[in-house]
Order: sequence, then structure tokens, then C-alpha cells
Amino acid sequence: MRAAVLTASGGPEVLAIRDVARPTPAAGEVLVRVRTSALNRADLLQRAGVYPAPPGAPPDIGGIEFAGEVASLGAGVRGWSPGDRVFAICGGGAHAEWVTVPAVTLVRIPEALDWDTAGAIPEAFMTAHDALRTQGGLQQGESVVVHAVASGVGLAVAQLGHAFGARVFGTTRTPAKLELARQYGMSDGLVMDRELGGLRDRVLAFTSGRGAEVVIDLLGGPYVAANTELAAVRGRIVLVGAIAGSQVTMDLRRLLARRLTLRGTVLRSRSTQEKAEVARGFEQEVVPLLSDGRARAHIDRIFDLADIQEAHRWVESNSSAGKVVIRVS
Ligand SMILES: NC(=O)c1ccc[n+]([C@@H]2O[C@H](COP(=O)([O-])OP(=O)(O)OC[C@H]3O[C@@H](n4cnc5c(N)ncnc54)[C@H](OP(=O)(O)O)[C@@H]3O)[C@@H](O)[C@H]2O)c1
Repeated sequence: MRAAVLTASGGPEVLAIRDVARPTPAAGEVLVRVRTSALNRADLLQRAGVYPAPPGAPPDIGGIEFAGEVASLGAGVRGWSPGDRVFAICGGGAHAEWVTVPAVTLVRIPEALDWDTAGAIPEAFMTAHDALRTQGGLQQGESVVVHAVASGVGLAVAQLGHAFGARVFGTTRTPAKLELARQYGMSDGLVMDRELGGLRDRVLAFTSGRGAEVVIDLLGGPYVAANTELAAVRGRIVLVGAIAGSQVTMDLRRLLARRLTLRGTVLRSRSTQEKAEVARGFEQEVVPLLSDGRARAHIDRIFDLADIQEAHRWVESNSSAGKVVIRVS
């Protein structure tokens, strides 16, 4: 099968399209013919050599989400048939024509979604749902702050937050992205400068002085300390990414005084059982929204698998908004 193979660690030039052996499904697994995937920061980090594949995933093929058709079933798998349209997250290996995944992590694709759209959904919407609901405990009537609001995950957070009855405030460094996020459920937002100037005051004004009950931080670095200034008493800060930095200096007394929770989360390395739970939560609360158009993927660009190097360069440039889709077959 054709796959985008990491021939070494480094820049996008280490990616090569190669013929490799098609995987076979073990007991409990399903072989899926991949139609589309998408590109994620995890793929960029893995390529750079700083984020190795989790155990069980191919060490040299990225791609942590896919949409495709069930091709064959491993021993003991029930409930799926060849030809079923499915999407899921996985530990890697989806930038290839075929991938094997545990059957319990699969979700049926709603009829209304074409392959390009379906491939843009699992990672962003499962991450957003898990961060808002499972990690953040979001309730109707609360306020959410999300940093990098026009990213793939950010636009999903804005839409789901809105759909769950919360008001969403977003940040970005790019003015045009703020306008885009307003079309995806964000009520208000702010273009950030290097000092994150004005952020606390704007969020306090947005929340009538209370602060945000839930903060979804996709960036880390200096945003973490800022979060403690804008969170409500007993606010929940969920750290999902650290592309703005992994070191932070902050006044811990803010956590004490406001009784804040600061929680980190990651999906890629979770166990099969945990990923199955994420898939069920997504199925119950997000798939209905995707089916009738209350939530949708924003596709920034579509690349063929053969152009995987170009796709990596595009995401790395921070120019994209929403999702970058990879057409595989
Ligand atoms: N924990 C998990 O399981 C999980 C799952 C998925 C994603 N993530 C993480 O979530 C984050 C978002 O992922 P994504 O796929 O949605 O990202 P994305 O679509 O690639 O967008 C990221 C955006 O972040 C902004 N940005 C980049 N570097 C920045 C910096 N130094 N300071 C401020 N803003 C910066 C840029 O937009 P601007 O124009 O606004 O600068 C960039 O376009 C990443 O950190 C990713 O690793 C984690």
C-alpha cells in the first residue's frame, strides 16, 4: 500500500511516499480502507523527532485520524460489516491507504458527510468534546475561553461550547481568524499581542466580572499564567497543547485563592478503553450536531497524500484556520 513514511527525523523533506506492507487486523481490530485523513500538530512533532508514536502504532507513519470504509474484521469483532463508513482517532498510521484500529474506537459516519468533511472531524471534535465536557465539566450557562480559537480544535470548541449553551470567548494572533471564528459560535474575542495585553479585562467584561468557568488552552506557555487571572472562582483550566511553550512562571497563589483546577490532557496515547469512551461520548453528544449541520468542520485546504510535505509546511506556517485534509484514496 502507499504510505507517507518518515524516513528520518527532521523537516518535511524526510517524508516520502513509499510502498509498504498492508497491516492485518489482530483480534478485536478492523482493517479500514482510508479515504481521507487530516494533518495534526502531533504529526509535525513526531516528524521532528520530539513526539514518538505511542506503543502499538507504526513508528514511521503519521496520521492520527481517518475516515474510510471497513474492509475486513479481526477475530471476535461484531457489529461492523465490509463497506461501513467509519471515522476514528488512532495512535498513528492513517497517512496510508489502509489502517488497523480497535473496533470499539470506531464511529459510524453520518450520511450527510462526504469523505473530505468526515476526515476533518474526529481529532478536532473528539478533543474538543473531551476537553469541554469530560475534563472541563462544562454546564449550560457557563462561559468558555479558548486560545487559538480558529485552529482545528479551536473552531470545534467554539461550536460545541455554543451548542452546549455556553458563551465562548476566543483568542488568536490573526485578525481575519477572529472574524472566521464568529461564524462558528464564538460570541466575542481578542487579537493577542506578544504581552497578551488586555486579555484579563476583556474576559472579565465578557463575564460580567465573574471570569470564565472553563478555559480550553491549546497553546500553553505564557497563556497558562494568564488563565489564572481570567478564570472564575472554582474555574477549570484544561491544558490541551503547548505550542506556545512548555515552561511557565506563575503565581501559584492565584490557584489557591480562586480554588482553580489546572488539568492536562492528551488523546493520542490513551488506552483503547479510554479511546472507546471518548468515541461513545462523541457519538452521543457531537454526531447529532454534525448530522443536522449545527456543527461542521471548517476545511482550510485539501492536499493529496503525494503532497504530504507541502501539507506539513502549510500547517507549520501557522497560516491555516480549521482543518487541513489529506486525501488518501
Ligand atoms: N492533547 C490532545 O490530545 C490534543 C489533540 C489535538 C490537538 N492538540 C493540541 O492542540 C493545539 C491546537 O491543535 P490544532 O490542530 O487545532 O492546531 P492548528 O489547527 O494547527 O492551529 C494552531 C494555531 O495556533 C496558533 N499558534 C501557533 N503557535 C502559536 C504561538 N506560539 N502563540 C500563539 N498562538 C500560536 C496559530 O494561529 P494564530 O493565527 O492564532 O497564531 C496556529 O494556526 C496544538 O497545541 C495541538 O498540539 C492536543
